[in-house]
Amino acid sequence: MSKQTETARLTVRDLRRMREAGGRIVCVTAFDALISRLSEEAGVQLLLVGDSLGMTVLGYKNTVPVTLEQSLHHTAAVVRGTRRALVVGDMPFMTYQVSPEQALVNAARYLQEAGADAVKLEGGVAVAPTVERLVRAGVPVLGHVGLLPQRVGVDGGYRVHGRTPAEAKQILADALALEKAGAFAVVLEGVPAALAETITAKLAIPTIGIGAGAGCSGQVQVIHDILGLFDEFVPKHTKAYANLAEEIRKAVGSYAAEVKSGKFPGKAQSW
Ligand code: KIV
Repeated sequence: MSKQTETARLTVRDLRRMREAGGRIVCVTAFDALISRLSEEAGVQLLLVGDSLGMTVLGYKNTVPVTLEQSLHHTAAVVRGTRRALVVGDMPFMTYQVSPEQALVNAARYLQEAGADAVKLEGGVAVAPTVERLVRAGVPVLGHVGLLPQRVGVDGGYRVHGRTPAEAKQILADALALEKAGAFAVVLEGVPAALAETITAKLAIPTIGIGAGAGCSGQVQVIHDILGLFDEFVPKHTKAYANLAEEIRKAVGSYAAEVKSGKFPGKAQSW
């Protein structure tokens, strides 16, 4: 833990220490001030303003349409709602792929305008020079390898990556390249558990898994999935700890019924 004040945010060094102490890092996605605060109060240490924002909040069919302005807007809300968790802004499609300079200018906006602590970008060996450029300039970077949702068009859909020896070798090389470039941690998405365990053992930085088994240094889940809020599609890697979609339908349905029948508002809600 950071030795500063009790309310100081966790730092990348705190995450590294957690890994070294054998603790598991708890991460969820976060898109607004309220749920972020509740998540933090429940013990979440790392909040990722993922570009899954596109599907969970903005109604897009994948992450590709999310813009930098939308991502910054939601990142700032998460920062305002929290005090302790480390907040990572997820750089959207084509906001860092053009050149390391483009990435640097856009990444700086997360830190300066939204108040984020770090940024995340997808890719391994191919983006390592960009990661190095950002870290050299003072931007903490969370890497992301394995299944890369921003490449859904090229890959032709979502699937587990790293099942063949060639793919597994590439994903390990990707993770090692990110560590060498200075990433403070790396997300392993949609890879076999055994491969994630091997990568975690080979890296000194923490690994944060999603659909990557239990052998990672931490886990990340999309908050809507673990709350049972997003019920259009439930990925195999997730677990719903509540059924908020049903609770919302029930609660709003009761309200609607009472408005229609004239039961709401009653005396208690009236002056
Ligand atoms: O956008 C997102 O939610 C993510 C996580 C799934 C890692 O990138």
